[in-house]
Parts: sequence; C-alpha cells; structure tokens
Amino acid sequence: MQNLILVTGGAGFIGSNFVLRWMKATKQPVVNLDKLTYAGNLQNLAGIAGNERHIFIKEDINNADAIKRVFAEHRPIAVLHFAAESHVDRSIHGPADFIETNINGTFTLLEEVRAYWSGLNSDEQKRFRFLHVSTDEVYGSLNPGDAAFTEERKYSPNSPYSASKAASDHLVRAYLHTYGLPTLITNCSNNYGAYQFPEKLIPLMILNAIDGKRLPVYGDGKNVRDWLYVEDHCDALALVLERGRVGETYNIGGWNERTNLEVVNAVCSILDELRPTSRPHVDLIEFVKDRPGHDRRYAIDATKIANELGWKPKETFESGIRKTVEWYLANEEWVKGVITGEYHNWVSLQYVNR
Ligand code: NAD
Ligand code: TYD
Repeated sequence: MQNLILVTGGAGFIGSNFVLRWMKATKQPVVNLDKLTYAGNLQNLAGIAGNERHIFIKEDINNADAIKRVFAEHRPIAVLHFAAESHVDRSIHGPADFIETNINGTFTLLEEVRAYWSGLNSDEQKRFRFLHVSTDEVYGSLNPGDAAFTEERKYSPNSPYSASKAASDHLVRAYLHTYGLPTLITNCSNNYGAYQFPEKLIPLMILNAIDGKRLPVYGDGKNVRDWLYVEDHCDALALVLERGRVGETYNIGGWNERTNLEVVNAVCSILDELRPTSRPHVDLIEFVKDRPGHDRRYAIDATKIANELGWKPKETFESGIRKTVEWYLANEEWVKGVITGEYHNWVSLQYVNR
C-alpha cells in the first residue's frame, strides 16, 4: 500500500492515541507493530477495529527476522518508534526489560531500518523518516528556578528508564551521523489523557479516588512535572514527521509545570464535582515513602518547535485534566479490562507496606 507508515508500540498509551488520530486525519495506512506487553492493549484501538487501513502485527522489536519481513512486505515510507518500557517505578524494580526493549530493541529495529533504507532508490531514501519518540527525562533533574530544558541541554539520566531512553537516543543519533539514516528525535514531557495505563500518576489517582482508595503521593509531593495532553503530543509528532528538519531534535512540552500535589488536588476537586462523596476526595491523600533517586523537576522549553513548526499545545492543564477525568468515568469497561491480576500484582509490589 502507498504512503504506509510503520508505528511501533501503537497499542500503548501514546502510540494508540497517535494511531487513532492519524487514521482520522489522513488516508494513509498504518502498520502497527506491538508486542502487547502488560502496557499494550488492543481495546485502545477498538475505534478502528475492522478498518483495512490499520494492520496490527503482534511482534517484538527484538525479533530481527520478523521486522525484516514486515519491511519487505509493507515498504513503509516512515517509522514512528514508540515501543518501550515506560514506567520509572518498574525500571527500579526490574531494569532488565528496559535494557532489552529500549536499548537492544531500538538497536535491532535501527539495524533493520538501515538494511531496508539502504535498498531504497535515492528519492525514496530522501523521503524516508525514522522518528524516535523519547522523553525529557534523559536531561535529568532541574532545581527550582533553573531554566527549562532546551535541545542543547546535556544528557544526565538518573533512572534505569531514563538511562535506557538516553542510550536509545544516542543510537539514533549515531545512525544519522554514521549511515545517513534520516532520523528525527523528539523529547517530550509527561503526557496524560485517555488510554493511559493506571500505573502512572494521573490515572492511578483518578481510579483510586473513584474507588475510595488512598492516594499515595511520594515524598513531600512537591516534585514538578510539565504536563502535556496526549493529543497535543500526537499533533506535534505528526508535524515533526511532516516538516521537521532531518537530524534535528525537537523538545515538546506543555508549558504546564505542576507539583504532584497540585495535580492530585485538581483530580480530587473535579471528582468532588462529578462524583461527590460524603468527604472531599483530598482526604484520601497519603504521603508515602519517596521513589529512590526521584527527579525533582522536569520542564521543557518548547520554543524551537513553536518557532520552526508553529506548534503549541491546544489544551490547558485545566481543560485537559477535566477531559481526562471525564474519560475515565465514562469508560468503565476499558478500566475493568486493564485492572487484571497482573495489575494487582504490580500494585501490591509497589504500594503495600509503602
Ligand atoms: P506505554 O508503556 O503505554 O506503551 C508502550 C507500548 O510498547 C506498549 O503497547 C507495549 O506493548 C509496547 N512494547 C513494549 N515493549 C515492546 C517490544 N519489545 N516490542 C514491541 N512492542 C513493545 O508507553 P507510552 O506512555 O505510550 O510511551 C510511548 C513512548 O513515548 C515511549 O517510548 C516513551 O518513552 C515515550 N514517552 C512517554 C511519555 C509519557 O508521559 N508517557 C512522555 C515522553 C515520552
Ligand atoms: P509517573 O506518572 O510515574 O511519571 P514520571 O515518573 O515518568 O514522571 O510519576 C509522575 C510523578 O508522580 C513523579 O514525580 C512520581 C509521582 N508519583 C507519586 O507521587 N505517586 C504515585 O503513585 C506515582 C505512580 C507517581
């Protein structure tokens, strides 16, 4: 099929939002390659079930032979690489999967992309893009008052997750400089929105609060993240793919710095309004033992993508968080589908006795 793009990790949170938006906004077919780990969920893609332009392939990016076959059969014009292990707390309990997927998997994928790209004619080679979706966490932690991360910031990752993503960014850079592969890297701040697995702060707090369970805030709750509504991230990625300069990095962020406590308070006050209970939801907040090596603050300076590509987020934190809470309230079936035995095991490991 013509103009086909290959998405890895398109059954996860951001990847599925991207695929859904891409299918709506374009006529281009998508091959969606995902291993379906605990974080991958075909229910995220129920809205495009049966659409022939979406081809789902359950596969691991570490399987070189399978990736080679996918390239030979589908001949994509671009690859968007979302597939990763993505949760910092899990990387602290078990870093091996992060090395395996984020580093080795990205390497395997890059090797297959390089082999495929080398066989294209020169027009096709010029047109091809490999967009690597990465995180602001590679830059490390900021102190209050420090300037936000620009693309020039030195890498200083602190968790096994961010170190593995940093390694993958460096591999992508090396494939650009050494082999001329037309790559782009995006480093984005914390996303939130529909279809996020409830191990991450915002969906965890929403679902716990709905259930009257405690809201476990790590440390003093004053760690700061820069929150971006996931659809704004997806729109930025589509723009970078279309018009980003080859070889460049683009930082993507929401200009929305909030302490964790501010985020949890916002969730609670929306639930007080939409699902009132006898006591305010903030009464469920409990301060628990901090995450080891917990980065204090992330903040993205998104000036470059604004100036070069005209992107800026459409949602404010207030509008985005309201939409997100409403989505979790309206999608009980989806929630039931992800609260499985595996999820309960994770919650026990991470929160019991904390
Ligand atoms: P996610 O954990 O929700 O989804 C990851 C997806 O990758 C899942 O569908 C999973 O099945 C798939 N996957 C994992 N290992 C795989 C493998 N070996 N082969 C094939 N598929 C595999 O993650 P997310 O939050 O959607 O993040 C997507 C990307 O965006 C990641 O690369 C992450 O580092 C980056 N990112 C995330 C955020 C955020 O706030 N969530 C912010 C910035 C960047
Ligand atoms: P998280 O959603 O895991 O994203 P990241 O660690 O990649 O930024 O966490 C966001 C912030 O919320 C982070 O400072 C850790 C904190 N946090 C809690 O306080 N309690 C929790 O139960 C979770 C999951 C996170």
